[in-house]
Amino acid sequence: MDGATKGVTFSVPYEMAVVRPLRQTTEAERQAALAKAHYNTDIIPQDLIYIDLSTDSGVSASSTGQFAAAQSVEPGMGLASEGSGAYCRLAAQIQRHFGFDYFVPTTQGRSAERIWTKINVKPGSIVAGNLLFPSTRSHIEMTGAQIVDVIGEAAHDFATDDPFKGNIDLDKLEKLVQEKGAGQISCIYVELSVNSCGGHPVSLGNLSAVETIAARHKIPLFLDACRILENSSLIKVREAQYRQWTLAEIVRATCALADGVTMSALKDFLVGTGGFIFTRDRGSQQKAAMQSFLDGVQLSAGAMDAIAAGLPEIFASDAYMTQRIEQVKYLWDKLAGSVPVLRPASGHGVFIDLNEFFAPSGPEPFAAEALAAFVYQKSGIRISKGPPLAPSQVARGVELLRLAVPARKYLNGHMDDVANAVGYAFAQRNEIRGLQKIDDAARSKYDPAHFVTL
Ligand SMILES: Cc1ncc(COP(=O)(O)O)c(C=O)c1O
Repeated sequence: MDGATKGVTFSVPYEMAVVRPLRQTTEAERQAALAKAHYNTDIIPQDLIYIDLSTDSGVSASSTGQFAAAQSVEPGMGLASEGSGAYCRLAAQIQRHFGFDYFVPTTQGRSAERIWTKINVKPGSIVAGNLLFPSTRSHIEMTGAQIVDVIGEAAHDFATDDPFKGNIDLDKLEKLVQEKGAGQISCIYVELSVNSCGGHPVSLGNLSAVETIAARHKIPLFLDACRILENSSLIKVREAQYRQWTLAEIVRATCALADGVTMSALKDFLVGTGGFIFTRDRGSQQKAAMQSFLDGVQLSAGAMDAIAAGLPEIFASDAYMTQRIEQVKYLWDKLAGSVPVLRPASGHGVFIDLNEFFAPSGPEPFAAEALAAFVYQKSGIRISKGPPLAPSQVARGVELLRLAVPARKYLNGHMDDVANAVGYAFAQRNEIRGLQKIDDAARSKYDPAHFVTL
């Protein structure tokens, strides 16, 4: 007899302690806001947004314990990190949950990647990866190395239900090592829950086989583990032999396969700032710590304490992540029957295939931005173009739009409203007008794009 039939269920492992009111705007207000923002929903002021699914990074709800810990004002920065209480509290948590003896805290995932690739990636060498995130990609390329994608072909097939589309193709990896020589390959860098192809996970079985190849050829294996909790939750659900394991056990088993890890704390770890390098090598840690000091990307004591307070809460049970992936699946289930979303569901967002959304006429010019503008005008909900694609996806003509669901921020009622808005947009897709980008010599190419409707 399961819990529900005995009258006991625990669906949501938290309660609201503080809330932010959300304004219900009129369509006329939203139309005016869109025109003022030149049809770029990214620059519409936050107070005119009802539900914001443009990112799940740095916008999740922290716990009361994390807020209290963030008030820490003791010294955290400087050269002697071991002298900082906040650093030591965090180091103990990192050792316990991820199994690494050495770590360097940074401000974000990208600052960790910058330092780690500078130390480990040689100019002119090759890095084997699985459609790595743009920041990882840029930092590798800035060292003068070349990235070769060795992800399985399933990553490019949006319609099948392959449970682990983030997996490395072992034959492609072996072939690369044979062709280029192990000495030419600086590292194998594996992103967990591969954002650019739909947030698809990497299985432990696949990672373990990659580790065997890496060890045989003495090539370091690094993880981009920003979404390690999400990846581990999907392993638990989809990889039969780990069904009885706790999330904490799967996270440790994942980390045990890696020589080093870079990680942003902004996604799975429920804070607004923070990143890490984990390593087994004291020398690399010392170099990375010095580089973080020189780059000015050391983490404040309050930020370290907020993460240190969150980790025991997160690992105390699987409830937080179970509820998170179930909420994303709730939204996915509502859309998958009618709207062309990437299959299967991921752990942090729902991804729309724009080529299919606008078929058979094909995507409008600036399809993602045009759809986002339409959805905002009708509902006040913000969605954004993305995730950022790898060059091999751009070459294939991939066009995606991601509904990123921040952790613990919204209720399933919000998800109902999102499904309603996106379902309506799909039904009215022939009404959605494409956009034209305004070329203005006075504006830098880095400024947010401005559009007019066609
Ligand atoms: C997979 C992945 N890697 C790295 C990063 C970079 O992390 P940050 O934004 O903390 O610099 C992100 C950010 O979204 C990400 O999703």
